Amino acid sequence: MTALKRFLPRTLFGRSVLIIVTPLVVLQAIALQMFYGTHWEVVSRRLAHAVAGDVALAVATLERFPTEADREWLTRQFLARTDLAIRFAPGETLPASPPDVLEGPTEAELRTALAERLGLPFRIDWSSRTDREVQIQVQLPDGVLHVEAPAKRLFTGTVTVFVLWLIGSALILFAIAALFMRNQVKPVRRLAAAAEAFGKGADPGPIKPEGATEIRQAAAAFNRMQERIRRFLAQRTEMLAGVSHDLRTPLTRMRLALAVLARRNPEEAEEIAALEEDVAEMERMIEGYLAFARGEAAEQAQPTDIVALLGEAAAKARASGAVVEVEGEGGAPIVLLLRPDSMRRCLTNLIDNARRHAKKVWLAARRVARPGGEAVEITIDDDGPGIPPERREEAFRPFVRLGDSAGPGHTGLGLTIARDIVRAHGGEILLEDSPQGGLRARIRLPA
Ligand SMILES: Nc1ncnc2c1ncn2[C@@H]1O[C@H](COP(=O)(O)OP(=O)(O)OP(=O)(O)O)[C@@H](O)[C@H]1O
Ligand SMILES: [Mg+2]
Repeated sequence: MTALKRFLPRTLFGRSVLIIVTPLVVLQAIALQMFYGTHWEVVSRRLAHAVAGDVALAVATLERFPTEADREWLTRQFLARTDLAIRFAPGETLPASPPDVLEGPTEAELRTALAERLGLPFRIDWSSRTDREVQIQVQLPDGVLHVEAPAKRLFTGTVTVFVLWLIGSALILFAIAALFMRNQVKPVRRLAAAAEAFGKGADPGPIKPEGATEIRQAAAAFNRMQERIRRFLAQRTEMLAGVSHDLRTPLTRMRLALAVLARRNPEEAEEIAALEEDVAEMERMIEGYLAFARGEAAEQAQPTDIVALLGEAAAKARASGAVVEVEGEGGAPIVLLLRPDSMRRCLTNLIDNARRHAKKVWLAARRVARPGGEAVEITIDDDGPGIPPERREEAFRPFVRLGDSAGPGHTGLGLTIARDIVRAHGGEILLEDSPQGGLRARIRLPA
């Protein structure tokens, strides 16, 4: 069964065509076997007996009329009236012949029929059989009778015609089925492509429902789902932006009030400075949120070279003093459907983390084969202290900073945003041990 499965077509198109064509071919084959199987046998037997009868008649008459003149007349009569060419060779004997190779029912029938009717040794020469003639030799007491029977007296062509018709009609049917099925499969393919693109963050827009009812329903359901997700995302981003924005005003007021307070109470300057620092940090968080919300709202996915993107991010990091190595920098492009600004932000966040905790950063992108299809993997490695496995999931949570390595200006949103961006592209991001000794962030994107 599994072996059979390997030969079955995988596509809907191939399977549908097979479903249409197979029963018809099977039906015709059964009809051929039922009708022509028996018909062919009967016809072969009758033809063989007719030829054998004529040969036997020739033998009988030749024996009855031994004179030269009579036999000449007989030869002419046989040729004219039975299509058999007979020739008597006096004094010959039949060569001891190797056993005949029987090719089909006709051959076997002819042997049986001759044996029945003649009662004399005979030989059927299949090897010298031309397309149109069969040679039969009969041993008479005083010589050998050579008979040439035209093939058309022995073989019927209808079976060949029927088999040809069977193959021909199967081919015609296949062509018609293929023509119609192609149009049926097209909307399914289009739907799959749209769902794929949407999963990667592109906006394919509502797809036109077409094709069979079920496919139209699927398309309509897909459109509704797409709309729901888009509305949900828009709402989330809007809310995030709204909250961040609304928090800014009271924070500004607090900062101003603290400044006034500090001037009035110089003896509490230390506490007030700490408060000011907190307020500044909250403002930075809000800025981060706002930037994220703004970025996510508008951007469209477009074909982007991930290798170039890595090179760009590395160059930016180097410009501010980081040591970054890109595997195969400037190598063959790997183009994916991406939101370039979002992806840039994601990479910057990860590189920023790596360079803050380590001396050197390694970047790489490569295509990999996955069970679910091809994927592209991007790795960001460093030689820093890394994160213990049990705390890696925690690091992705918003506002979580592990240890006190983060320092001021870091809100703990970097990994949260990076994961959000990768997931919006239909991918996944993981933290692992790096072969360089530190942390590895591995991004996997569907190709
Ligand atoms: N490459 C790394 N090596 C070691 N620890 C890391 C690494 N990357 C992240 N971390 C830890 O995970 C925590 C969360 O990282 P995340 O990027 O979310 O926040 P952050 O870097 O502290 O702040 P932000 O990115 O918002 O400036 C960090 O505070 C740090 O402790
Ligand atoms: Mg960070």
